[in-house]
Amino acid sequence: MDKKLKLFVPGRLCLFGEHSDWASLHRVMNASIIPGHAIVTGVEQGIYATVTMSDKFIVESEIPSFKNESFECEMDSKKLRETAQEGGFFSYVAGVASYVNDHYRVKGLRIHVDEMNLPIKSGLSSSAAICVLVARAFNEMYNLQLNTMGEMNIAFYGEQRTPSRCGRLDQACAFGVMPVNMTFDGNEVFVDKIKVKRPLYWVFSELNGSKDTVKILSDLNKCYPFAETEIEKNVQRALGTENEKLIERAVKAIEAGDCESVGALMTEAQKMFDTLVAPASPKELASPELHRVLADEKIKEYTYGAKGVGSQGDGSVQFLAKDENSREQLIEYIKEKYNMEGFRLTLKPEKKVRKAIIPVAGFGTRLYPETRAIKKEFFPVIDRDGYVKPVIMNLLEQLEESGIEEVCLVIGEEEQAQYDAFFSPLSQEHISKLSEEKRAYEEKILEIGKKITYAYQKERKGFGHAVYQCREFAGNEPVLLLLGDMIYESFEERTCSLQLIEAYEECGKTMISMQDVPLESVSHYGIMCGKWENSNENLLKITQMVEKPDINYAKDCLKVRTKSDGDKYYCAYGQYILTPEVFEALEYNIKNNITTKGEIQLTDALDSVRETSGIMGFVFNGKVYDVGTPDMYRETIANYGR
Ligand code: UTP
Repeated sequence: MDKKLKLFVPGRLCLFGEHSDWASLHRVMNASIIPGHAIVTGVEQGIYATVTMSDKFIVESEIPSFKNESFECEMDSKKLRETAQEGGFFSYVAGVASYVNDHYRVKGLRIHVDEMNLPIKSGLSSSAAICVLVARAFNEMYNLQLNTMGEMNIAFYGEQRTPSRCGRLDQACAFGVMPVNMTFDGNEVFVDKIKVKRPLYWVFSELNGSKDTVKILSDLNKCYPFAETEIEKNVQRALGTENEKLIERAVKAIEAGDCESVGALMTEAQKMFDTLVAPASPKELASPELHRVLADEKIKEYTYGAKGVGSQGDGSVQFLAKDENSREQLIEYIKEKYNMEGFRLTLKPEKKVRKAIIPVAGFGTRLYPETRAIKKEFFPVIDRDGYVKPVIMNLLEQLEESGIEEVCLVIGEEEQAQYDAFFSPLSQEHISKLSEEKRAYEEKILEIGKKITYAYQKERKGFGHAVYQCREFAGNEPVLLLLGDMIYESFEERTCSLQLIEAYEECGKTMISMQDVPLESVSHYGIMCGKWENSNENLLKITQMVEKPDINYAKDCLKVRTKSDGDKYYCAYGQYILTPEVFEALEYNIKNNITTKGEIQLTDALDSVRETSGIMGFVFNGKVYDVGTPDMYRETIANYGR
């Protein structure tokens, strides 16, 4: 099986702080220039591509913007650099390929661009998106182990080999649709994610005016590195201290959910730019179209604020609409009045994880014949508190400790009676024979029982199918999914579930808990590979998932390098955080009967979510015990809780 990657890289929108990225580069000459800051986000539009291995470097597509052209070159740095220097669309891809070829041991790639829905001149940096896409394609195909910052750097240095001069904030598209606070300190870039508290409804649009970015940049660069005139000092102040204060306030407003202030800060930023920066490039930054739109009273009714985009001038404008409805009205209005097409961008808060799902409808054939008598979720284990409990109680208690408020069990319709019986009160006679401690535990069982709802799996069409039965229960929230036949022992105070939930709350992506397995046993598991996103190597950006791969394929394509333990192979292990997109993907697979080994698999749905939004693997600080086979059950009974 040849490795094939599906990639998506969005365009990026600078919300605040344009120009401060290149300005800070002058710190190399003048240390009194202060670092730049910008708030940047990926947008919903971008570039989709399919990537395969090749001896040459090929970029091709049938989409109209390629006009039937394609690019093909040997992996020869000199030839690639020459193309990069010529300018034009293919210069970007060649620039990045030459940079990668100079610094890493790679062969070629065939990049097929499937779709490109970025408005091209909108200030959304389609060039940076294609550069990040090429950097990511090499990284993932040849397992270069670069994290997102690493990809950003390669994209930047690749673009530097072309005649175009991008700023350092352009490659923020590498982070996807989430706002980040970037700090530019000389040649260095630091990135902090911003936590959105309330939804922000943005619109951006081209102004149909004209702007000369090269002239704007050359005029403004004259104010650096040493400002002499009043105008030059003002530019340095605006892109320096004033910008720094404004960004700090904007980050606070976004994190506090104060959308009105975010809008007011956009208007303030524009005013500051007009007074302090525009005089340095008066002709280009007069921006009559932009100001006509910004002064429109009707637009003000729909928005909290507005400002220019990118290098400013009459390129594009961005608005922060008051709500979803105002946004639709605004888009209609600017279309009618100015013939401008509005593009939507919604920045949403990460929802808290407060619901969990446990599918327990399987027949448990590997534990037959005992599963004729009781379901494996009711098999006994001796817990750390010394109580003998059904597996399901152990899981439900862990959920309780992790702050989960509602649980949905997926069961067969005929199984309801067993659960009802377990979660009903005991007889008074029975209770009277229990110790005080056990009576308290009895209360706990009943309390936990109240949090449970049931979903029914009528036909056992597989794990993914069982999960899908909870679609209504999940609604539009992220949910924690546990396997019903595993037990989790944490090596720290937080339960394994809570560790996973907190990792999700940091990165906002679908998560899979994982554990390393020896190469010899990869063919029993869903194996995933990727690159570490953090230095303590427990958060992996997943680039590929393969259900039960053969050993040779795993050896060539699925190993994950670790700092201290060499190469490892990771399999999905028991817990997941599913975002609403996973249920959409499951629905699609169920409707179209897309199965693997005859079953609707969760892995297939996760893999399609990985392609578009990305998913993360998480190694928790703990151990997993399985009760699904006789051998593993024996090992669990012997060792769990000791
Ligand atoms: P398993 O793969 O262990 O399947 O399911 P199983 O049917 O329980 O056991 P064996 O393989 O026949 O011995 C993992 C989890 O998914 C649930 C199971 O109950 C278990 O908690 N599951 C699986 C369902 O709810 N429905 C299904 O169709 C399949």
